[in-house]
Order: sequence, then structure tokens, then C-alpha cells
Amino acid sequence: MAIASLLLVSLLAGLSMCAIRGASNDQLEVYSWWTGPGEEEGLAAMAKAFEAANPGVRFVNAAVSGGAGSNAKAILASRLLANDPPDSYQRHAGLELLDDVRSGKVHDVSDLYDEQGWREVFPKGLLDNLTIDGKIYAVPVNIHRANLLWYNPQTLRDLGIQEPPKNWAEFLAQAEAIQAKGKVALAVGPEWTQKHLMETVLLGELGPNGYESLFNGNLAWTTPQVSSALDTFAKVLAVSDVKSASGDWQPQIDRVVQGSAVYAVMGDWASNYLEQTKKLRFGETYGAVASPGTDGVYDFLSDSFTLPTGARRPDLSRKWLVECGSAAGQNLFNPLKGSIPARTDADAALYQGYLGWALQQWRDPKTRIVGSLTHGVVANNAYNAEIDSALGLFVQHGDLGKFARTVQQQFRETQ
Ligand code: GAL
Repeated sequence: MAIASLLLVSLLAGLSMCAIRGASNDQLEVYSWWTGPGEEEGLAAMAKAFEAANPGVRFVNAAVSGGAGSNAKAILASRLLANDPPDSYQRHAGLELLDDVRSGKVHDVSDLYDEQGWREVFPKGLLDNLTIDGKIYAVPVNIHRANLLWYNPQTLRDLGIQEPPKNWAEFLAQAEAIQAKGKVALAVGPEWTQKHLMETVLLGELGPNGYESLFNGNLAWTTPQVSSALDTFAKVLAVSDVKSASGDWQPQIDRVVQGSAVYAVMGDWASNYLEQTKKLRFGETYGAVASPGTDGVYDFLSDSFTLPTGARRPDLSRKWLVECGSAAGQNLFNPLKGSIPARTDADAALYQGYLGWALQQWRDPKTRIVGSLTHGVVANNAYNAEIDSALGLFVQHGDLGKFARTVQQQFRETQ
């Protein structure tokens, strides 16, 4: 009797384990840093569409908060190290993918590109940024622009400012007048937003050729040209609220909306936050122009998803990637994310207001496209991490020469 009930108990336990495994197996865990207003809406819509297309499968949103992946990337690294990957995770197109590829953490998904005809619908430059040693390792869902200056037109009117500055010298001149009237010229947020700002100052001061040369090693950080651009960056930081800044990019933008700060440099995910969360309208109650000195230049980044080695349900991961790369998926996601589609054949009519302008600029053959530093395109992870540390020290202690020398040395050591 005792043996019979023991057998029964273990049989039931076995059955229920199977049930748990069965349940947890019918799910897709997607990892990103899209939480909070302005970040999560597009992902939520994609999750809903995924569940509708795959009845019985649960979409597990494993997003970790922190703009630009400031927390998510570190947590992901420890999961990958422990061989506990999600079924798909967010990466940027560009050199950010390199480590994962070299250490075998992601699968080659070139066959999906052939099957879905994606080589014909994604721009060549983007495909190049996703290709490592002839193979493609991620699927892009969007294109974001990093080099934008955001403002509240009412604040400019109140201060008697005719138009936003066209270069950083003009910005600094405006900043003096703004400070004299008791306002902050530029809102910044946590460290990644300071780096994002540095990237746009370098781009504006060096021009696209100089900027690209800096990151491909043809222009040294210690040259007079770059020192002068870094000096401008230091002056820009000095008229910002960096000493008191707290919170992520949304509170940074809030200060511009409320009018306590006049400008903010931020990527165009801000457009969704301003439109959907703050209910403002482009050209009426908020404005955005290319950051100073970068008119006609598109500092791009692209959110992409991967198929990790050891994903529990690679079949579902692939379905998710197909959704990310499809016209329907991109047209659902991007208007809600404040980005434009990575596909060249997406329906332009869906992109209005700020996004209409962004799409027109992106597609204009005269536009010069460069890749973002802060968001993974032009620097590998090791180099980016070294820039982070050096920049943190610079913001604290202000030693520009030391910053330039350290970054220059680290460029050599991290290639
Ligand atoms: C970027 C990402 C964007 C947006 C932004 C702020 O790195 O590509 O989609 O989420 O960070 O968090």
C-alpha cells in the first residue's frame, strides 16, 4: 500500500512537472530595455500581435529599465555567461554585435534573410552593419536618429530667441543670454546621455568625415582639431544642468517641456514620448531640429533582435524575428516607438509629423548617414566601455587632455 501510494505520488509529480514544462515551453522570452513611457508602447503592440498569430504561446516581456540599455546590457551579459539566454534579445546593428558573434552567443540568421527576401528590402548600409564575416546575425526592426535638438517653441518665444542654433558657437552665444534670464540652456540626464551629447558635439564640430575618421582610427583624439571639438563639448556641458541632473531621458525631456531648461539633445525616441505621453505636436507644441552643425547628417542606430545560442524555443525565436523584419511588424512598431522602419518598402503614409520628416530625411539621397557611438554602431563594446569610464572621470574632474589621451590609447588596445 505504502509503495503503491508512493508510486502514485511520484507519477502525479511527474505529470505535473510535464505540465509545468509544457506550459513554460510555450512561451517566448524577449529581452530589451523598453520599459516606461515612450519606450514600451511599440513592444507591447508587437507582443500582442505575436500572441494573436501564435495561439497558446505566451510572450514574456523580459525588459530591464534604463535608457540605452544602461542596466539591461550588464544583466544580459551575466545571463549569457551562465548560458541562460532569453529567446531573443535586443542589440544595435553595428560593432555592438561583434562580441556575441565572436563568442558564439548568437546564431547566423542569414537563411531567414534568404527565405524572407530581406536582402532586397533593407538598405545596403544597414545590411553591412549587420554582417560579420559574411554572415548576418540580427534582424533590424527600426531606424532611430540620434542627432536631434529638442525644444519647446513657447520657451523660445518667451526668451525672444528667433530659432534654434545652427552650430555650437551659436548655441553657446544663446546659452549666455538664456543663463542671464535665469534658465538652464541644456538639460542632460545620466551618463549615457552625456556621451550621447558628446557624440553630437563631435559630429557637429568635426563634420561627418572627421567623425567617421575618429572612430575608424584615421583621426587621433589628441589632434588639435579634436581637442578643439572636445573643448566645445566642455563648454556645452558647463551650461547644462549636469551637476544636478537626475533620472533618465524622460525627466531630461520633461525639463524642456516645462520650460526650466531650453534645449535637450536626445534621440528620436523622444518624439513618441512627446506625442503619446505628453500629447504635444511637432512644430506646434514641441520642436526638433538636427543638433547644431549636423543639418543634412543622419546619425543613425538600429534596434535589432537576435537568435541566441541555447534559446529554449528557437522555432518561436525565428517567428519573432520574422515579425520584427516584416512590413506589418515594422509598421505596427515604429509609429508607436518614435522610429522609422528599417525596411525601404514600408508605408510612408503611416509616418506623420516628426516621423514624416525623419523618413523624408532618411530617404533623401543627399543625406549623409553616419553611425552612432553611444548606440552601438561605430565602436565595439570594449572600446565603448573605456570611453564610458574616461568620460565619467572627465565630467567629474574636467581634465580634457587626459580624457583624449586615455581614449586614444584605449582605441589601440581594444581593436
Ligand atoms: C537606444 C535604443 C532606443 C531607445 C533608447 C533609449 O539605445 O536603441 O530604442 O530605447 O536607447 O532607451
